[in-house]
Formats: sequence, structure tokens, C-alpha cells
Amino acid sequence: MARGQFARKKESHGGGLGPAQATFQALMAEARSQRHHRLVEKLENMSEPRPQRTSGARMHAQSLPNDLEGSLAPVAPRRRLTDLVLPKYVTTDVVDFIQEHAQLELLRSHGLEPRHKLLLVGPPGTGKTSLAEVIASELRLPFFVVRYDGLIASYLGETATRLRRLTDFVAEQPCVLFFDEFDTLGKERGDTNETGEIKRVVSSLLLQMDSLPSHCVVVCATNHPELLDRAVWRRFELRIDVPLPGEAEIRSWLRSLSRDYDAPRSLDRPEFVAALLGMNFSDIEAFTLDIRRKVVLSRGRIALEDAATTGLERLKERLSRSRSPENFPPSDSPPSPSSIRPKSDKRRSAKISGESPSS
Ligand SMILES: Nc1ncnc2c1ncn2[C@@H]1O[C@H](COP(=O)(O)OP(=O)(O)OP(=O)(O)O)[C@@H](O)[C@H]1O
Ligand SMILES: [Mg+2]
Repeated sequence: MARGQFARKKESHGGGLGPAQATFQALMAEARSQRHHRLVEKLENMSEPRPQRTSGARMHAQSLPNDLEGSLAPVAPRRRLTDLVLPKYVTTDVVDFIQEHAQLELLRSHGLEPRHKLLLVGPPGTGKTSLAEVIASELRLPFFVVRYDGLIASYLGETATRLRRLTDFVAEQPCVLFFDEFDTLGKERGDTNETGEIKRVVSSLLLQMDSLPSHCVVVCATNHPELLDRAVWRRFELRIDVPLPGEAEIRSWLRSLSRDYDAPRSLDRPEFVAALLGMNFSDIEAFTLDIRRKVVLSRGRIALEDAATTGLERLKERLSRSRSPENFPPSDSPPSPSSIRPKSDKRRSAKISGESPSS
């Protein structure tokens, strides 16, 4: 079968190992070869197919009280741990956390409680929100996302009342409660520009977090850990740093992309890895999707490797031509050194430009 046809077939069936499944398997193989029996056992448990079930989140969405509809969004968790490509230490921490809840009875029979307050810290697009969803999905628990716009009221006292209603409601059932961009709340306590009201709200949130039972898993995510004060930090029993993908994660991603397309030569070569290093997964994913579209639309005339090479050339060209808004030189002038983005800014530039890297 021609390479293009093969890729098309995989696209249309959504077949092949996703990048994350491949990483998961690699992790399993590594754990086996290093005889980390406990980790192997945990990973095997997690990779077992699960029976189809009614979405717990949907069930709870129906029973969500009217007055909480604006401040709490039930989301059906779909993502699984195997869908994400993560450094081994992150996967291990997440698996341990999940296992504590999955084996709650055993812990309790020994007078122990599982940890249930988790802080995810890392740059944008590295998978923090996805991980919160994964935790709900792996634990088969309803997933509630806090909506600050509905929670924060304009008049005094109302926000604290809503917050109390919210925590009372989630405390009634095993669930995962997710505060995304937690710094927007957590930071404001020490902010002198804020009113006493928001400070009181954050203080009462922290107290209420303390009183939540352990069957209620609280996951908070932030890109700005430096904005959280010490009282906030000590509430969390586990902090997981979710970094930008390193060479190993990018290689893994490229390897599985190559496998999906049955590419004769894997893309996980140093030049490709180096070009993507510094980008976050959100943008790597967008870049990869552009390559996939190019291959699919060419109806087999463009091989994956060629699409990736062209895509990277375009990406580099665009990065070197990125300009500040106040400086738009003519198209034929060479880029000024100041207009070349540092590597760490690459992740932003791919998103900012609407142009497809591979077009
Ligand atoms: N580690 C990862 N493995 C695979 N895909 C990822 C990973 N991280 C992010 N992605 C992809 O990028 C998208 C954005 O990720 P997500 O929203 O979880 O990032 P985030 O860390 O919460 O970002 P932000 O800080 O901007 O909220 C996801 O939909 C997912 O497809
Ligand atoms: Mg997020």
C-alpha cells in the first residue's frame, strides 16, 4: 500500500497509536526492563480497557442546583493518561495520586487518607488542564470546573455565599473540582489594589478547601506560581511541575507520528527535535496537525517527511521574520536582530500567526 494511502486510511479510521499511547508503552517497557514492578503493575491496571459508562459529570449536571449553574461547569472527562506525553516523573506522580484514590478502602483500613489537594504548575500549553481532566477520567468521577465569572459577584458578601454553596455541593459526592488559572484567585489576597472583599473570599476559600472531605479531589492549575502566597502553597498536599516538553518527549511525539504514517524514516531526528524544542505541546500539536492536513490533502503525493521538512522551514522563516507591531519593515529587507524571537517565545509565535506552518 502506498504511503499516502496508508496515512489516509489511518486518518480516516483514527487508527494507529497516538503519541501518548506510544509514550505510555515506552514507559511500561522501560519500567519492565528496570524491574520497577510496582510501577509496571500500576501502569498495567491503568491501561486496561474500561467498560463504557454513563458520564458521571452529565448525571451531576442534571442535579446541579440552579444557583450554582453560573459558577460551576460540569464537564464530561474524556482524556486519559495515555493521551498525554509527559516526563516520567510527572506520570509517576499522577499514577501514585490516582492509585491512592482507586485504593481508598485499603488506605482507610490502615487509618490513612489519600492526598486530595493537588497543584499543577507549569507554562501554558503543557497539559495542566488536560491532566485535571485525566484525573477525573481515570478515577471515573464527575469533573467540575469552577467559573470565576459566575462565582465572583459584584456586591459584598455574595461571592463568599456562592463559594460556600459551591463547596457544600461538591462535598456531598466524590468528584474532581478544578480551579484553572488559580493565581487569578490565589494572588489577590496580597494585592494591595484589591478590596477587602476579595481577600476575605480567598481566605474563606482556603478554609473551605481544608474542610473538604478526601473523596473530593481539588486540582488547581497555575502558570504563575510566584503569585501565590505561602498560605496558599501549604494547602496543597502534592505539587506537580509540568514542564515544556524536553527532547525525550518531543522524540516520543515524533516517533509515534512517524509510526502513524508508517514513514520509512522516523522523524525523531536531532534536526526536527531541535527545531521543536522550546515550543509547548499545544503548539507542537497544532504544528503536527498542519503537517497531517498537508499530507492528507496531497492525496498521497507528499510524504510525511517532506511535509515536516517544509513545515519546519516555514516555521523558522516565520520566526526569524516576527516583528514587533511598531516595526514593520518592507518584505525584502533583512530581519533585524531584535525581531528574531528568543527560543522560549517560539511557542507563542506559532499561535499568534494564523498562517499554517506547512502551507
Ligand atoms: N503533555 C501533553 N501531551 C499531549 N498533548 C498535550 C500535552 N500538553 C498539552 N497538550 C495539548 O495541548 C492542548 C492544550 O493543553 P492544556 O490546555 O491542557 O494546557 P495547559 O497547561 O492547561 O495550558 P494553559 O496554562 O494555557 O491553560 C491540549 O488540548 C492537548 O491536546
Ligand atoms: Mg489550562
